[in-house]
Amino acid sequence: MNKTVTVKAPATSANLGGGFDCLGVALELYHTVTVGFSSELVIDSIDGKSSSKNDLLYRSVNAVFKRFGKGDTPVGIVSRSDIPRASGLGSSAACIVAGVMAANALLNEPLTQKEMINICAELDGHPDNILPAIVGGVTAAYKDGDGIGYLRADVPSGLVFAVATPGFKLKTEKARAALPDSYSRSDCVYSLSRAVVTFGAFALGKIDMLKAVDDRLHQPYRAPLINGYADVKNAVAAAGAISSCISGAGPTVIAFFDDEEKAKKTTVPDGWTLRVLRAEQNGAELIR
Ligand code: HSE
Repeated sequence: MNKTVTVKAPATSANLGGGFDCLGVALELYHTVTVGFSSELVIDSIDGKSSSKNDLLYRSVNAVFKRFGKGDTPVGIVSRSDIPRASGLGSSAACIVAGVMAANALLNEPLTQKEMINICAELDGHPDNILPAIVGGVTAAYKDGDGIGYLRADVPSGLVFAVATPGFKLKTEKARAALPDSYSRSDCVYSLSRAVVTFGAFALGKIDMLKAVDDRLHQPYRAPLINGYADVKNAVAAAGAISSCISGAGPTVIAFFDDEEKAKKTTVPDGWTLRVLRAEQNGAELIR
């Protein structure tokens, strides 16, 4: 490879209960990607080497190249991720953000951050993982005429996340297919009220008000797809969590604690992995 750039993109937890497809938070767990111009397409990941143009990282790089008339320019990509795949921790969003930011850097940064957000959200389908991966902290997103609008806040420094991930995967498509086409007004109001208070609790630093985290738009339909869900909810509650919810489309469960030691004492069921994490406040980083 000639010129190379490296981007480190964080994991994210989307929805945060009632904020379905809107709220998300960035976590200190990362996917690091190095991209450089090359004579042929090579994607080097922990799965081995590939030259598939269907690779999500490559498609994300190429989406930027295409916009500037450089589609299909061959690149070498080295990808190393600590974010488990199909687990509800934004592994796809981290791929997309890393690919788009790396391509933008290779082309000497022609895109604004807003343009990158819009390209990434289009590739991912929704903005709730994309936004915190790019700007860090906690974000509330909405679609407006020219793309994605959002509010961002720093995550309160005392907040700790206990993130429990089972050994099985759950594809987002399957978790979305489980959702109904319509909802009652009372369920919409229930989730809306929880989402508003949840974002406010983050933004105002009122960690105790994260007790409002809950939802009736997606969790009741996804919980049956997550074997062990009730056990994990009970385990984090017993350890002293303020509340917990499905992370993204699942199957990971994320719990909110005001004390790291309590979070570390969570006993997850066999086959589940516990990560105790802090928020990533800055979002994806370009490392030259
Ligand atoms: N908001 C999305 C969902 C996140 O819950 O389906 C997963 O991409």
